[in-house]
Amino acid sequence: MERNFSRILVTGGCGFIGSNFILAMRRHCPGTSIVNLDKLTYAGNRMNLSALEAKDQGYDFVHGDIADPELVLRLLSEHKIQAVLNFAAESHVDRSIHDPAPFITTNVQGTQVLLEASRKAKIELFVQISTDEVYGTLGPAGQFSESTPLAPNSPYSASKAAADLLVRAYHETYGLPIIITRCSNNYGPFQFPEKLIPLMITLAWEDKPLPVYGDGGNVRDWIHVLDHCRGVELAMKHGRPGAVYNFGGNAERTNIQVIQSLLDILGKPHSLIRFVQDRPGHDRRYAMDYSLASSELGFHPNYIFEEGLKMTLTWYATNREWLRRVQDGTYREFMDAWYGDRR
Ligand code: NAD
Ligand code: DAU
Repeated sequence: MERNFSRILVTGGCGFIGSNFILAMRRHCPGTSIVNLDKLTYAGNRMNLSALEAKDQGYDFVHGDIADPELVLRLLSEHKIQAVLNFAAESHVDRSIHDPAPFITTNVQGTQVLLEASRKAKIELFVQISTDEVYGTLGPAGQFSESTPLAPNSPYSASKAAADLLVRAYHETYGLPIIITRCSNNYGPFQFPEKLIPLMITLAWEDKPLPVYGDGGNVRDWIHVLDHCRGVELAMKHGRPGAVYNFGGNAERTNIQVIQSLLDILGKPHSLIRFVQDRPGHDRRYAMDYSLASSELGFHPNYIFEEGLKMTLTWYATNREWLRRVQDGTYREFMDAWYGDRR
């Protein structure tokens, strides 16, 4: 039986995946009211959803922190929220190596605050957006399944694993209806240009060296962000409370393969590639067995990686103004000027 919620809270909706999810939900479920709670860290960009803010009565933006218990509880009760989808996070591995503290505050403490408020408000479903990185790293063969033991290797993935365990504990202890989704590496529109694909696109355009960590042989399973968003929507509508679902893109590529493909599409020379010092604790390979999501939710990735990559390049090329404002920091001023005290 399909669950169709009429009022949902999306956290972190101004980030890469949250923006894409909200825009997809407006297309698929126009009758659902969406409250977007976002702290607007460096990764949050309200411009991504400016079209909705201008004209959509069923969309509300709230500037705030998921780790603020009063705010979260008030939002859940004032808006009569039925389901919470927690996308909010500190999400970049390199930043977590440099300074783990905000990862604990948002990813662990923030998730616990959301869970506690959800329990008190008796919400009908809590969906935690998690990552394949909680499973750690693979050798040359095999895949992660939902029963693979958690073995995170970075402060980021450790904070996401801790959050997953709290979500599970709220289900076991308090009976909170929860679902955890774990996805592989996303690419597509609105990704902040610190992550591999948009970073390499922007550097290659400027004929700057492309820094490849280690030997470039690390493998990621790339999924288009809209395939991930559809997986989350399917889990919200059809998922079994208490379940964990893996999502993957059927597109295992080494980093060097991804970068060479990008350079070829752009017509830039491979000589731009520079091998640099490896990331500490760098996971060698991720690969997802998503057969549970296929059989229970009907999930399959639709995008072929090389086609999705070309579409992503086109998106960045046609949204140079978005990129320019993100790169020079004026997206924050833009938001102040544009929205003023509507925050
Ligand atoms: P992102 O960094 O692009 O966006 C994160 C968003 O969360 C931003 O809008 C930011 O302002 C907001 N945020 C941060 N701290 C907050 C707080 N304390 N309160 C409220 N809002 C806060 O991240 P993303 O790549 O869109 O990832 C979204 C989620 O998906 C994360 O939970 C991440 O762990 C998970 N995930 C990401 C990927 C990927 O490849 N990007 C893959 C699997 C899972
Ligand atoms: O697997 C899911 C995860 O994917 C998400 O949970 C994370 O939020 C998301 O950031 C992403 O993590 P990665 O660490 O895999 O993504 P990143 O884009 O930082 O790096 C991808 C690969 O490219 C990784 O092997 C490191 C490498 N890399 C990255 C950068 C930024 C480089 O070689 N050079 C670089 O400059």
